[in-house]
Amino acid sequence: MRIKAHAPRSKRIKRVPKMPTSTSTILWCRSGSGLASVAADHVAALLARKPGAVIALPTGQTPLGLYAELVARAAAKRLSAAQARFFNLDDYLGVSADHPLSYARFLREHFLRPAGVAEEHIRLLRGDAVGIEEECRDYEAAIEAAGGLDLAILGLGTNGHIGFNEPGSDWSAQTHVVSLSEETRATHVAQTQGKFVIPEYGITVGISTIVAARAVLLLVAGRGKACALAAFRRGIPDPKWPVTALLTHRNLTVLADAELQSATVADGTVPR
Ligand code: GLP
Repeated sequence: MRIKAHAPRSKRIKRVPKMPTSTSTILWCRSGSGLASVAADHVAALLARKPGAVIALPTGQTPLGLYAELVARAAAKRLSAAQARFFNLDDYLGVSADHPLSYARFLREHFLRPAGVAEEHIRLLRGDAVGIEEECRDYEAAIEAAGGLDLAILGLGTNGHIGFNEPGSDWSAQTHVVSLSEETRATHVAQTQGKFVIPEYGITVGISTIVAARAVLLLVAGRGKACALAAFRRGIPDPKWPVTALLTHRNLTVLADAELQSATVADGTVPR
């Protein structure tokens, strides 16, 4: 397969001058269950206001509590996601939807099926699509046809990635194939206890797709995220830290683990 991955462009991108930080505030959560519950309140409020909301979902350890909470609320009939439409943020390239590494599989298992979302309301990236560039275009068209994202829920990579938009990514990109960084692959090898060969490439919605969402909910948990969160809190958009692309978003909510509030990061910076 011929792969055209977007090469990191950090050398070609000038550091963006300091801009006013977004109006977002970080809500510090004392426990994982607290973070999950506040995040679920956020999603529930959107679904109450707009039952057919269009939502992009993240994978990873961080959103697991949110998914469990949403599933529990759906089971107790305190929330319905039945009319909402769901997309995901990313997946590994070349991995089919039934593979244990598949993000599509993860989301179906942990949220979409137990929450009772019908398949016709789900469009997930096909990491194993034969024409991958066509798949990227088709995915963007599907988001647009759904009316655009009402909410993008994001996790955060240790290197500041959002979705699979790695440091140096083009902030104007839409859905595309990416070359995964060594750091990202090493993290995923550790998370899967070395049981799988982690693919070299991923497919991800681009940063421009994410920032076009009408609202963004960023979930940050785990001490490994201290550097990335510190970069975000410095308030300077910087292509080396993709998460800083969110700084100017008009409707961003950040929920973070309280232990990160005073965490010291490797370069000696104490996050403000
Ligand atoms: C992966 C995914 C990201 C996710 C990140 C954080 O790299 N591509 O979309 O946000 O992991 O995962 P975790 O929540 O397990 O730290």
